[in-house]
Amino acid sequence: EDHGTGSQVCCCNEDYCIHDDASKPIEYPLDGILMSSATAAYQVEGAVDVDGRGPSIWDVWTKRPNVINNNDTGEIACDSYHNWKEDIALLKAMNVNQYRFSISWSRIFTDGTSDTLNPIGVQYYHDIIDNLIENGIEPLVTMYHWDLPQPIGDTGGWINPNTITKFADYAEFLFKEYGEKIKKWITINEPLMISEFEYCGEDLVHASGSFTPHCEWSVYVAAINLLRAHLTAWRIYESLDPSLNGGSIGIASGMTHFYADSRNKNRAEAEAAAERMVDFKWNMFLHPIFSETGDWPDSLKQRLAKLSKLEGRGKSRLPEFTLDEIEGLKGSAQFIGVNFYSAKVVSSIIGQETNRWQYKQREYDSGTVIWPEKHWREINVTNSWIHYTPYGLRALLNKINNLYPDVPIMVTENGVMDSLGEDLNDISRIHYIRGHLMAVSQAKHVDNVNVIGYTYWSLMDNFEWEDGYNTKFGLHRVDFKDPGRKRTPKASAHFFGKIIEQLKIEG
Ligand code: NOJ
Repeated sequence: EDHGTGSQVCCCNEDYCIHDDASKPIEYPLDGILMSSATAAYQVEGAVDVDGRGPSIWDVWTKRPNVINNNDTGEIACDSYHNWKEDIALLKAMNVNQYRFSISWSRIFTDGTSDTLNPIGVQYYHDIIDNLIENGIEPLVTMYHWDLPQPIGDTGGWINPNTITKFADYAEFLFKEYGEKIKKWITINEPLMISEFEYCGEDLVHASGSFTPHCEWSVYVAAINLLRAHLTAWRIYESLDPSLNGGSIGIASGMTHFYADSRNKNRAEAEAAAERMVDFKWNMFLHPIFSETGDWPDSLKQRLAKLSKLEGRGKSRLPEFTLDEIEGLKGSAQFIGVNFYSAKVVSSIIGQETNRWQYKQREYDSGTVIWPEKHWREINVTNSWIHYTPYGLRALLNKINNLYPDVPIMVTENGVMDSLGEDLNDISRIHYIRGHLMAVSQAKHVDNVNVIGYTYWSLMDNFEWEDGYNTKFGLHRVDFKDPGRKRTPKASAHFFGKIIEQLKIEG
């Protein structure tokens, strides 16, 4: 089927070339790679006060004026609470092997604690899981995708260590309740977005139960608490009857490949800046889990200790793990979830970002994320933070594999918003998916990276956090004016389905 995408776009950088020619098949096979799509509870479910669901920090946050584009909220969203069967039919029509979705904590425990167990909410996810399994689609469950129960937010959210025990109770419940059916779990989605965006300063973009002006420490307190919550969940899972577990646990990290700024005359300096960015922007959460040390990356420890000393503080702003935690964290997940959208360039020139991040710039020691280089293909939307850099995904997968050899890697998110003027014939999205699938297949079959899955974000247009409903990532259009929230496949849904169908025939 020709989607009118015959144009050739060669997309190379100094390391890799991804030939984006839609008239040709993907260069290497995709066999052995689970094909998947994803959503998250707050972004699609709606029905926020139906059947015993309690409020989450996003329900409360979105009621503040002017924090979300167009003052949109997730009150109805795609109404997947009522439309879930249709959602599964859409997945089925695309032939996917897996569906990644998240469980709303406040639907399971109305106020976030096990005292307020909500059987209707529990049943809702059983229905989804059973139906997926009946349709031959493996459920991949994200336990926490940012929608903290408001009462827990009120006590400080991830800044408060009590949140760890509350998460542990929730995790234990999920494992016991759904453990026989769910074989892949993700504890936390994009922990950096939580630690960096939810507690720091007054000009927040993400929901929070509590903010603090003390950005220099809140980021790291939230970070250690998130890692401790992950560890606690892992320990519970490990301790359960093997008939309940026997699956695997992962963490989904928002990741990018950082390129050194080629305009920088001092190449070594530019590369060092890019490396620091890796440590501060994603390795901070992977290193404790997947390295032999069970601890923060060294550069984080060194830089933050130095900085705290310069500021005359006795103690580093980076909290320390106990020995027991270090032992426990090592190997506390079986796969790495990679959410990849776009590569970035790191400049060693200070001052290209707004004040909001100045505290961070000091920490990176003159590393600044800047706009990508000129040859990067822009996605045709205004204010997009996404650039078409599929070679960046291949480079990233190789980078992770070098750091943590052979740990299975699942691309748990990859996607792009609609391009201007394309509507249902979303040629740019087809290009984007093709390019990234090629990157994945090359990483697997040429570079021998252990990539086990590819997930397109998202199954359908949905509530894109601070951007509201205007930024649409879906393979399916959702009509937000229609009370029934009608879904219509875009060309990319057909394209994605075709690729998977082909795979199944060949496989
Ligand atoms: C990452 C998040 O996990 C997801 O919720 C979000 O919609 C996408 N990126 C797109 O921004």
